[in-house]
Amino acid sequence: MGEENIWESRYQAGTTGWDRGSSSNNLSYWLDNDLLKPCRILVPGCGNGYEVLTLVSLGFDVVAIDIAPSAIKNLQAMLDKESLKAEIVLGDFFSWEPKEKFDVIFEQTSLCALPSELWEQYETQLHNWLKPDGKIFAAFMQTGREGGPPFHCELSDMVDLFPSEKWDWSNEHTEQEKEPGMTERLYILGKR
Ligand SMILES: C[S@@+](CC[C@H](N)C(=O)[O-])C[C@H]1O[C@@H](n2cnc3c(N)ncnc32)[C@H](O)[C@@H]1O
Repeated sequence: MGEENIWESRYQAGTTGWDRGSSSNNLSYWLDNDLLKPCRILVPGCGNGYEVLTLVSLGFDVVAIDIAPSAIKNLQAMLDKESLKAEIVLGDFFSWEPKEKFDVIFEQTSLCALPSELWEQYETQLHNWLKPDGKIFAAFMQTGREGGPPFHCELSDMVDLFPSEKWDWSNEHTEQEKEPGMTERLYILGKR
């Protein structure tokens, strides 16, 4: 079964344990602390994309991509209902290039959804998609267990994956509980 079908079948079966049902505390943290201001922003692996609605309604120029048709359909329906507009892409981000680069990438539960063999390729894409002074607003998933998805994003592995020659790491901003036993550690990574 291809990657698209694996994710699509999860949406069709309603087995979307990662889905928060509303815009995340991660995004609220960045917004409430005035760290994230309206700009051109990408949400890769957006899923149902509640954060996309929040961002668009605050004046961000949002592009969101997901490989699962049902997720994209749900997101488009939510946007239409609120008469909001974003560029919504159905596709595989490994074979996609944006028309224009981004100021910010909102990375939430996308990296950790991928097996670690794909992480370097993903990091290369993130770097390419950003403008020269662009930033990733990242939430690194901590599951403390083997296997996935979600796959555990050990901080030392993240530092290796996003090396300091290419990325300027902030200090840790905060740690958010995703669900009991799972947290997300928030960092801003500036493109060098
Ligand atoms: C764990 S879900 C997270 C969804 C969303 N970020 C959230 O926080 O609810 C991972 C998402 O990545 C999407 N995805 C996985 N591989 C992808 C790929 N190669 N290209 C685009 N989307 C992909 C899946 O369809 C799924 O919606």
